[in-house]
Amino acid sequence: MSSSQTKRPLQSLKSRALNGDIRVPGDKSISHRSLMFGGLAIGETKITGLLEGEDVLATADAMRKLGATVIRDDQGTWHVTGVGVGALREPDSVIDMGNAGTGMRLMAGIVATHPITTFFTGDASLCKRPMGRVADPLAEFGAQFITRDRGRPPMAVIGTDEAKPVTYTLPMASAQVKSAVLLAGLNTAGTTTVIEPIPSRDHTERMLRHFGVDVDVSINDDGGRTVSLTGPVQMTAADIVVPTDPSSAAFPLVAALINPESHVTIRDVCLNPLRTGLITTLIEMGGDITITNEREEAGETIGDLVVTGKSRLTGIVVPAERAPSMIDEYPVLAVAAAYAQGETRMCGLEELRVKESDRLAAVAAGLAANGVVHRIEGDDLIVTGGDVPGGGMVETHLDHRIAMSFLVLGLGANDPVAVDDASPITTSFPSFESLMRELGANFAPAGS
Ligand code: S3P
Repeated sequence: MSSSQTKRPLQSLKSRALNGDIRVPGDKSISHRSLMFGGLAIGETKITGLLEGEDVLATADAMRKLGATVIRDDQGTWHVTGVGVGALREPDSVIDMGNAGTGMRLMAGIVATHPITTFFTGDASLCKRPMGRVADPLAEFGAQFITRDRGRPPMAVIGTDEAKPVTYTLPMASAQVKSAVLLAGLNTAGTTTVIEPIPSRDHTERMLRHFGVDVDVSINDDGGRTVSLTGPVQMTAADIVVPTDPSSAAFPLVAALINPESHVTIRDVCLNPLRTGLITTLIEMGGDITITNEREEAGETIGDLVVTGKSRLTGIVVPAERAPSMIDEYPVLAVAAAYAQGETRMCGLEELRVKESDRLAAVAAGLAANGVVHRIEGDDLIVTGGDVPGGGMVETHLDHRIAMSFLVLGLGANDPVAVDDASPITTSFPSFESLMRELGANFAPAGS
């Protein structure tokens, strides 16, 4: 994939106030699931607003290799004709999931309970990420896994046709692991149950229902959730309108907040309550963010975000329980914190160590390179805000969100902030640069 080949250094420079009205691309989590569920359902699923980033295109390819028909028409609508749960075909070549951890982990769940053998690989970043967290529960269904040392891909999954249902308590808050187990349950006779001590994004549950699967969700005494479904199920094609990605909206949102006089509207953002931790946090920090035009569409709450840079942010303590609802947003929250008055403490960030990069280390290194005072205490990141010197070169480690976050940092810094490689941005937000420029952001090529 291109993101793992040629490096593209880029820098951002202090910019005038950001102004405008934009729409970011479709939600990555919902886009992956749309293709997967469409490929498992009987009939044709039409998907509009699909994120056409590299991660999602890898999932489209994977579903084709497993027998689904996946076509994009000239208007940008995707048409997926599924094979039916239980009827996936054994791929005749290795499936390359590129940079996509969500893609590989959810696909592992799907193929684990089909009587086929599937080989998965990915780019240098994905091949460092732990797959044991899905291989362990999926092995309880009867599937077998071969991985490299410490559960790293490439990975072979030998699926089973005699799957036994599983009840699994998540050892970490992870929608990917929850989803992998539930998806294995689709082709398993009996009830598969996942217990999650802290609720994580629930797109799998909502979307499976949309495709006709009976998914039972109950709230536990400790605030966690128990999710179960009884297989084998039959899924029926269902059209999908993908709302825009709150994790992508996070970048123009923070960029507007750190530039006084900014006024930006971001349209049709998915406001699923398990995804809005960053908005809650920025409002607690004093950010001027208003949600307008809130409505329900295709089983998700969506709305427009109107944001101005008129009030200076103030540091706060962000509780660990909030982490699952903003897990991908900590790098850009660290950027907001760098411009806030006082100290921002982000608690319980252990899961950041196993993302597209070790994000805790990558954020700390990027802040250090640009003169931002910070420290790590256990799993907490503490950033002291103020004037941001900038002037540093940030290593992105094939991580799209590290690249975008530090490009946002540079928009208010005294000296330009450079990233060594902006190419991974295409995995989740291919129009990042053009949309940000449209708002007034100043980017320029950088020396490597
Ligand atoms: C995702 C879940 C999160 C998130 C990822 C997308 C999903 O990962 O970081 O970008 O679509 O289920 P974890 O479940 O591992 O936290």
